[in-house]
Amino acid sequence: MAVEIRPTILKLPVKTKILRTSVLHFREIDSTNRYLLDNADKPHGTVVMADYQTAGRGRFNRVWQSPPEAALLFSVLLKEIPSVVRPTVFPYLAAVGVYNCLRQVKELVSGVSVKWPNDVLIYGKKVCGILMQGNIMAGCYQKLVIGIGVNVNQEESFFTKDLNSATSISIEAGRRFDRMSLFNGLLSSLDEMLIMLQERGAKPIITIWQKACDSMEREIAVDNGNEIYRGIFEGLADDGAMQLKTKAGLKRFYAGDVTVIKE
Ligand code: BTN
Repeated sequence: MAVEIRPTILKLPVKTKILRTSVLHFREIDSTNRYLLDNADKPHGTVVMADYQTAGRGRFNRVWQSPPEAALLFSVLLKEIPSVVRPTVFPYLAAVGVYNCLRQVKELVSGVSVKWPNDVLIYGKKVCGILMQGNIMAGCYQKLVIGIGVNVNQEESFFTKDLNSATSISIEAGRRFDRMSLFNGLLSSLDEMLIMLQERGAKPIITIWQKACDSMEREIAVDNGNEIYRGIFEGLADDGAMQLKTKAGLKRFYAGDVTVIKE
């Protein structure tokens, strides 16, 4: 199938202040993150979504796969980034936005949590991944693209082999979901978090994230790609670094993968 070049415009009924609700919609594209990185002249708050990605990007150059029309796959372009705000806060902001929205689904309330660095889980299984990419100039992010993939209606048979620690909202809630109503809720929730950041800074977002995280104060292993460190997860620093109390002292991480060590 030929990859669509031009998006259509989807007008969402939700009211937002920062995110644009005239969403650029692709039935198929390689990656919504790639599209916004290549089209960063679009306005602040532009949202791009796709029903299917042929080369969806995950963290650490992994691929992010989903069958057509089963997930919410979208990216947001942010350009007006106050200089006092560290870009590291945005993945937490996005995770908290998704978390707040999923907690409103009555079957899921108590099962939703976040996991460092930027996953959202339902009953311990990954339901959402977030990938922040950006153009850096003079050491600062000028343009940020925040890509969000939420597993909505995939069935159990999709989560085999290396995806067995992932799930979809519909598996966990026991019913199918209307993707677009969920999308409205997600954009509204993300917009609220962006407004919170604008008005009150990063601290309240870090606080919500920490409350939503099940592995705080627990023994975890952090794999930063080179080495694995064990220690107690002491929470996030004001600059967004994750703090791990190890036998050798406090270590800080900005990227990596976490495993909770079960006693
Ligand atoms: C992760 O590895 O957990 C991050 C996955 C992020 C996937 C989303 S889907 C929409 C957006 N476009 C991409 O190519 N990736 C992100």
